[in-house]
Amino acid sequence: MEVRVVPLLPTHLAEIAVLERICFSEPWSEGSLSLLTKEPNFGVVVLCGDQVVAYGGMTSVLDEGSITNIATHPDHRREGLGRLIVKVLLAEAKQRGLATVFLEVRESNQPARALYVAEGFSEVGLRKNFYRQPMEHAVQMMWTNHG
Ligand SMILES: CC(C)(COP(=O)(O)OP(=O)(O)OC[C@H]1O[C@@H](n2cnc3c(N)ncnc32)[C@H](O)[C@@H]1OP(=O)(O)O)[C@@H](O)C(=O)NCCC(=O)NCCS
Repeated sequence: MEVRVVPLLPTHLAEIAVLERICFSEPWSEGSLSLLTKEPNFGVVVLCGDQVVAYGGMTSVLDEGSITNIATHPDHRREGLGRLIVKVLLAEAKQRGLATVFLEVRESNQPARALYVAEGFSEVGLRKNFYRQPMEHAVQMMWTNHG
């Protein structure tokens, strides 16, 4: 089925909250996710038919962005959707004139780390015991807007 990429809207939040619970041990609630629908934050959703199959969100303060959430439904992984989400978020970051974008990722999350490196992020730090369930270090990654 054809996929469509659309801006993340309040009407998507309930479905995204379900995906959060499927994909993460510490999922964001629908209320927390609503932060992504409020300017200057933004997000993107991939729809397959009417179903949300992947999404990503970024918060921003002044000229600095943070990718806070990104996930693909397990039935749709390795179809290029995660890469598409990162590309669309970074294109929007460029459009908005953000200078840098940061994110944190579990040290053991090799799929996500490989994706971010491939899309231009560098590993810039380690936040010790940043995550719970299970406790784990976060690798901090940074992307720079080269214009
Ligand atoms: C990380 C995640 C978003 C990737 O989404 P996806 O739609 O499967 O990613 P893509 O199909 O676009 O893959 C892009 C690249 O990521 C890397 N990658 C993705 N899955 C991988 C895996 N299982 N093993 C190794 N590398 C992987 C590869 O470099 C891949 O490129 P390739 O297919 O050309 O080799 C997805 O695995 C996911 O939702 N994981 C659970 C939630 C999560 O960890 N989110 C990130 C939090 S920081």
